[in-house]
Amino acid sequence: MELGLEGKLTVVTGAARGIGAAVARGFATEGAKVLAVDLSEDVADVAKEVGGESLVIDLASPGAAEKIASVSGELGGADVLINNAGISRPAPLCDTTDEQWEAVVDVNLGVAFRMIRALWSQLCSHDGAVVNLASFASKRSTLFGNNSSYVAAKHGIAGLTRAAAFEGASQGLRVNAIAPGVVDTDMIKSVHDADTRAKIMGFIPQSRFADPSEIADLALFLASRRSAHICGEVVNINGGLCMD
Ligand SMILES: NC(=O)c1ccc[n+]([C@@H]2O[C@H](COP(=O)([O-])OP(=O)(O)OC[C@H]3O[C@@H](n4cnc5c(N)ncnc54)[C@H](O)[C@@H]3O)[C@@H](O)[C@H]2O)c1
Repeated sequence: MELGLEGKLTVVTGAARGIGAAVARGFATEGAKVLAVDLSEDVADVAKEVGGESLVIDLASPGAAEKIASVSGELGGADVLINNAGISRPAPLCDTTDEQWEAVVDVNLGVAFRMIRALWSQLCSHDGAVVNLASFASKRSTLFGNNSSYVAAKHGIAGLTRAAAFEGASQGLRVNAIAPGVVDTDMIKSVHDADTRAKIMGFIPQSRFADPSEIADLALFLASRRSAHICGEVVNINGGLCMD
């Protein structure tokens, strides 16, 4: 399928590893120009591999989104924004500290909002697209609970997606989100031990986790004109874990 993403400047947050790195590779394979952003200096290796640019920055720091917009502006302006960076700090609700709550809500939701706001004019003037990384937890609670900050932030991403899609629709910008179930990345390994991962597998009709490249494939479609009439959707990709 011809995606028409050649030369499109694609800003990918959280691109040093996992889903973000797979997305960077996927866009580069389609001929897009990638600006890979992450807290980790490993992002430079990903950018080098895909022939793109990198920026090491804490997305939660003041002015980060504006700084990224300035760099993407110098590169010709963003065509696509993939709001992928995220963190999870699981804990029972009553043991969740203010700091944990604020960090999880800010990195998963606040950063996505600030990135959309900072890149809005570049994206609109390029008939652009935003793809947010939502989650199964944007639609349900997590399977074993104990992650209220993440569930709240990911439900917020679904709302932000719809609100931004509504405003963007008349200004040349499409906004959608991807809701993975479980993807085989460091995040999942850090949040769940092997026993819990095996239990989760039991809830997935396809009996496997997603490969990060499968999330990248959906991001490519949602960023391309092949999905031009899809607006404000939170698209499941979860092997049947959650169907709606
Ligand atoms: N892995 C899954 O099963 C799964 C399922 C549903 C949704 N998601 C979502 O997909 C996205 C990517 O997940 P992943 O599994 O690849 O995660 P990951 O932990 O493997 O990678 C996340 C990346 O984001 C970067 N990052 C985190 N905080 C940052 C900050 N403040 N500034 C800059 N960079 C920062 C990290 O350094 C890391 O490179 C997240 O939004 C996550 O919530 C993941």
